[in-house]
Amino acid sequence: MQPKSLSSLHEQLQALISESPLQRVSHPLLSARNISLSIKRDDLLHTHISGNKWRKLKFNLIEARSRGVNHILSFGGAYSNHIHALAAAGFHFGFKTSAIIRGESHYANNPTLQQAQKWGMQLHFVTRKEYQLRNEADYLMQLQKRFSDAFILPEGGSNAFAIPGIAEACTEINQQSDNSVDHIITATGSGGTLAGLVAGCSATKNKIKVTGIAVLKQGEYLNQQIQELLKQTEHCYDTQWQLQTQFHGGGYAKVSPVLKTFCRTFEQQYDIPIEPIYTGKMFYALFELLKEGYFNEGDHIVALHTGGLQGRQGFQQNKLI
Ligand SMILES: Cc1ncc(COP(=O)(O)O)c(C=O)c1O
Repeated sequence: MQPKSLSSLHEQLQALISESPLQRVSHPLLSARNISLSIKRDDLLHTHISGNKWRKLKFNLIEARSRGVNHILSFGGAYSNHIHALAAAGFHFGFKTSAIIRGESHYANNPTLQQAQKWGMQLHFVTRKEYQLRNEADYLMQLQKRFSDAFILPEGGSNAFAIPGIAEACTEINQQSDNSVDHIITATGSGGTLAGLVAGCSATKNKIKVTGIAVLKQGEYLNQQIQELLKQTEHCYDTQWQLQTQFHGGGYAKVSPVLKTFCRTFEQQYDIPIEPIYTGKMFYALFELLKEGYFNEGDHIVALHTGGLQGRQGFQQNKLI
């Protein structure tokens, strides 16, 4: 079905994806300090367009449609959750989708990219060197000439239009929670999700602190990137936020035996699926921070489950989990 107008796109978006549940979990480390933990289950938003990917895409799709643009081009690695979600969204909402993929064309056969192609996405493989140019103005101008009909979305979908979508999670959390929220924690890759939470928490007027767990090595540069993203929205935000950069565990997608065991135990204990690249690292860090006394006695923490479960297929294929 091809949506024809902006209002029908809004209706379709609302009809397909609504709120995600907020789930309370318990642990002796939490009860010892009278701390409560709730998990915002954005992994349950939709089978394929889930987590922060959906929230970041929502207002980008609306913006593209309002400009009369029906083709979305973005960037990602061979197992990218964002690319997978964009392809699914294009299929569901009637957009043509294309992706610049880092690496060799044999990756087209992996489960993530095979599914993206089934949803109609066109893939363009580039060398790692060319991929490094993905945020350079000259390179983007060349791409815009080559794909003249395309709305170009940055890697991870993190731009100013991603922010109001993520901010909606804060509104939902405040409406769903029966006690006030002191802290929201999320995994951080490109920074869009953290920036959206900062914006969303400012809008709720509660004094909520936001913490991001950088999933990659030397993530300090993300502080600047997050500030830039917030600046692009042309608003001032008074939310206190912090990026924790010491939990990368050796780098992006590196899975130590300790992390692997943590993910398995967590899943068995709570019956909540996670993966080791984003949500596994975030929950591992949350419990480490709890042990270090990072949270205050009596706090109510909300951890954002950002989805990304499709990425597990690649890990399983490579026998890493
Ligand atoms: C599952 C998952 N969680 C968290 C993140 C990090 O989000 P951001 O790139 O907005 O920091 C990503 C990447 O988009 C992701 O795929």
